[in-house]
Amino acid sequence: MKNRFVSLFLILAGLAVSGIHSAALDGVIDLYKLYDNPEAHVSLKGKLTTADRIASHGYPSEHHYIPTEDGYVVGAFRIPYSHKLQNQNQKRPIAFLQHGLGSCSDAWILQGPDNSLPYLLADAGYDVWMGNARGTAYSRNHTTLSTENPNFWKFSWHEIAVYDITAIIDYALSTENGKDQDSLHYVGHSQGTTVYFALMSSLPEYNEKIKTAHMFAPVAIMKNMANPLVRALGPYLGHQGIYATLFGTQEFLPHNDFVMSLFFNICQPDFLLRPVCENAMQTLYSGGRVNMTAMPDAMATHPAGCSTDQMLHYLQEQQSGYFRRFDYGAKKNLLIYGTEEPAEYPVELITSAVHMWYSDNDAMAAVEDVEKFASRLPNKFMHHMLDKMWTHGDYALNREVRKYVNEPVIAIMEEYEQKNGGM
Ligand SMILES: *[C@@H]1O[C@H](CO)[C@@H](O)[C@H](O)[C@H]1NC(C)=O
Ligand SMILES: *[C@@H]1O[C@H](CO)[C@@H](O)[C@H](O)[C@H]1NC(C)=O
Repeated sequence: MKNRFVSLFLILAGLAVSGIHSAALDGVIDLYKLYDNPEAHVSLKGKLTTADRIASHGYPSEHHYIPTEDGYVVGAFRIPYSHKLQNQNQKRPIAFLQHGLGSCSDAWILQGPDNSLPYLLADAGYDVWMGNARGTAYSRNHTTLSTENPNFWKFSWHEIAVYDITAIIDYALSTENGKDQDSLHYVGHSQGTTVYFALMSSLPEYNEKIKTAHMFAPVAIMKNMANPLVRALGPYLGHQGIYATLFGTQEFLPHNDFVMSLFFNICQPDFLLRPVCENAMQTLYSGGRVNMTAMPDAMATHPAGCSTDQMLHYLQEQQSGYFRRFDYGAKKNLLIYGTEEPAEYPVELITSAVHMWYSDNDAMAAVEDVEKFASRLPNKFMHHMLDKMWTHGDYALNREVRKYVNEPVIAIMEEYEQKNGGM
C-alpha cells in the first residue's frame, strides 16, 4: 500500500535527516529505545487477526503456523473453501497471495467480500492462502530466537523469498486439498513481487509449482522510480557505510508511539520534508479513489513491521540500478558471492507465466523500469493500466479494484484451469 510504504520512507527520512545533522542521530537512537515497547503494540493477544476478520463475514478461515528451513515460524491465513458454494469436498485450485513491505495479510481483505481478491477467489472455487513475511505482526516467531535478539532481524527480502515463500508454497501443496496438486496460482503486491522474482531466479525449480503469477506494482529495478524520499535517501543508505550500518539489521518499528510522533513531526509546517508529507496525503485522499470505509482497518493493521535491511536492500537497488543480492560491502560480498559486487539475480531463469500489472502513476514502480525488467523475462504478459491515475496503493484500496484488477486476474486463472482440464 503506497500510503504506508510512503510513510515508512517518511519515517526513515526523518531518521536519515537527523543523521545528516550528525550528533542528533544519537538522540534519535535513544528515543528509539525509549519509545519502543514492541509487545505493547505488536502483541496479537486480544487483537483481531486476518482469520477473525474473514470469519466475521461468514467465510471459513484458518490460521496456520508454518516453519521455515532456517527456524522462523510464519503465520499464514486460509479461506479453504466458500461457504456459499459448499465446495469443501471438491478439489479446489490453490491461490497464494503475498503482501508488500510494511504490510501483511490484512491488506488483501480490507475492502470486504464484495471487492477483495481473497473472497472473490474463494467464491470462484479456490483454496486461498495469504502469507505473512518474517518480522510482520503475524510472523514474529522463531524456534530459537526471540524478537529481542538482533539476529532475528538479520534478513532482507532475499531470505523472505527463499525461505518463507518456499515454505508456504510447499505447505499449501501438502494439505489434504493440495497434496494431489503440484502447482498453484501466485499473486504478489510490491515486495510480494520482489520476493517472487528473487525466488524464481534463485531456485528456478519452483517455477514448476506455478500455474500463473500476477505481479501487482512490480518492484525489481528501481532506477527511474519517482518517489522523492527514496531518491533523497538512496545516496545515504543505499551504500554500505556509517548510515547503513546504523540503520541496518534491526526491527523497523511497527505501529507505536515513536513512529506516530515522528510521523507527526515530519508533517509539522517547518519541517524540511513538509512538501513530501503533503504530497503523500494528497495522493492518498484525493479524488475519492480510495475506499475510506476501509481506512480504519488499514490504519489498525499497518505498518505491520519489517527489518530495516529490507529497506536498505531496496535503497541499494535504487542506487545501483540492478536487481541483485544484498550488498554487504566488498569484503563480505567476496566471501558470500565470490565477487566484490553483489550477485545479480538471473531473472532469465523465471520460466513461469508472469503477468505484470503496472501503471503510469506508480511512484514505486516506474513504467520504464517495469518494462525494461520484463524484457528479460521469458514468459511474461503485460497489463499496463489504462487508468493514468492508478497508484501503487490502488491495488489494495482503490474502490474499483474489483473491476480493474481482481476480475481480470481471476479470469486469467480460470482460463488456465479450463485449459488444463479444470478441477
Ligand atoms: C469499501 O470497504 C468497505 C469495508 O471493507 C466495504 O464494505 C465496501 O464494499 C468497499 N467498497 C466500496 C466500493 O465501498
Ligand atoms: C509460534 O509458532 C508455534 C509453532 O511452532 C505456535 O504454536 C505458536 O502459537 C506461535 N506463536 C505465535 C506468537 O505466533
